[in-house]
Amino acid sequence: MSNIIIVTGAAGFIGFHLCKKLLENGTNVIGIDNINDYYDINLKEKRLDILNKFPLKNNMWEFFKIDLENKNALLKVFEKYNPKTVVNLAAQAGVRYSLKNPSAYIYSNIVGFSNILEACKINEVKNLLYASSSSVYGGNTKVPFSESDSVNHPVSLYAATKLSNELMAHSYSHLFGLSCTGLRFFTVYGPWGRPDMAPMIFTKAILSNQPIKIFNNGDMSRSFTYIDDIIEMTYKLINKPATPDYKFNRNNPNPSTSWNNHRIFNLGNENSIKLLDFIQLLEDELQIESFKQFENMQPGDVQNTASNCSSLNEWIGFTDYTPLKKGVKYFIKWYKDFYK
Ligand SMILES: NC(=O)c1ccc[n+]([C@@H]2O[C@H](COP(=O)([O-])OP(=O)(O)OC[C@H]3O[C@@H](n4cnc5c(N)ncnc54)[C@H](O)[C@@H]3O)[C@@H](O)[C@H]2O)c1
Repeated sequence: MSNIIIVTGAAGFIGFHLCKKLLENGTNVIGIDNINDYYDINLKEKRLDILNKFPLKNNMWEFFKIDLENKNALLKVFEKYNPKTVVNLAAQAGVRYSLKNPSAYIYSNIVGFSNILEACKINEVKNLLYASSSSVYGGNTKVPFSESDSVNHPVSLYAATKLSNELMAHSYSHLFGLSCTGLRFFTVYGPWGRPDMAPMIFTKAILSNQPIKIFNNGDMSRSFTYIDDIIEMTYKLINKPATPDYKFNRNNPNPSTSWNNHRIFNLGNENSIKLLDFIQLLEDELQIESFKQFENMQPGDVQNTASNCSSLNEWIGFTDYTPLKKGVKYFIKWYKDFYK
């Protein structure tokens, strides 16, 4: 069967939504995930239930519970299905947990990603997209962050592994002609979101009258980006594989493009919002005032993130970001339905 896409991290937040979108559009999708217990497995299984029961047209959905560290198992799936496109979203996510369990990041994000690159090389995959993160901008204070900025100062091991993925992908693009697109996601939120991230943590606390911990005394801002926007951008990027940048100047290299077919893009809402304003949006939607507990900055955290989207817009023409008020409304509706 031709036109097969492998999506890793398929039981995860972004992977689930991407698989759904691909299936809706008649693509044959192979999902891979190790369904680890970094957060509630029940949520991952419920996402998978939806994919397993998806009303297919003439297309195909198969799921494999595989750890990216298991190279042989990965190779078997790649060999059997011969995908032309691979989207690697599986990773150990989360900045704060990387201070507690650094090995998990090395195994999944470095060893695991190296196995993905090898599987792509051996099976002559044409197009690899892989999740990077806005956290690669690390200690930079010039906002909005542009892909042409230097990203040599990560402030967490998580960020360092994501930056390593960008470098590893570039080397495979150079050596083996693998077309690679790095997706620097900025704080994604929405239905089926991650329980370890602020929107879910805050909502849960507000609804149960528990205090919400606000770090850096609230002096933070984020490019909160609605999941449907992330999926639309990723979908467009799947359909426009990276090509060499013919204007690339090795005397003055732009870190986000190359003479090889490797590109890196920010995928983030153009409008960054102050954390306290975001909490206000949640409170308005829930019609409950939160009880705030102000704390110092957490090690590994970044104070502000803001996405410069001009390069992405030029490449795929995406400008239609979901307004935060609307996104928060959809998110809260899902949260109340799901957690009753
Ligand atoms: N959600 C965000 O705001 C955000 C921001 C920046 C970057 N990212 C990146 O985007 C990707 C997807 O994020 P998400 O929010 O969907 O996270 P997620 O944790 O919900 O999804 C990741 C999935 O990968 C799986 N996984 C982890 N390690 C694995 C391994 N070794 N082998 C197989 N499967 C494994 C997990 O079980 C999980 O289901 C990740 O790479 C993450 O680092 C996400």
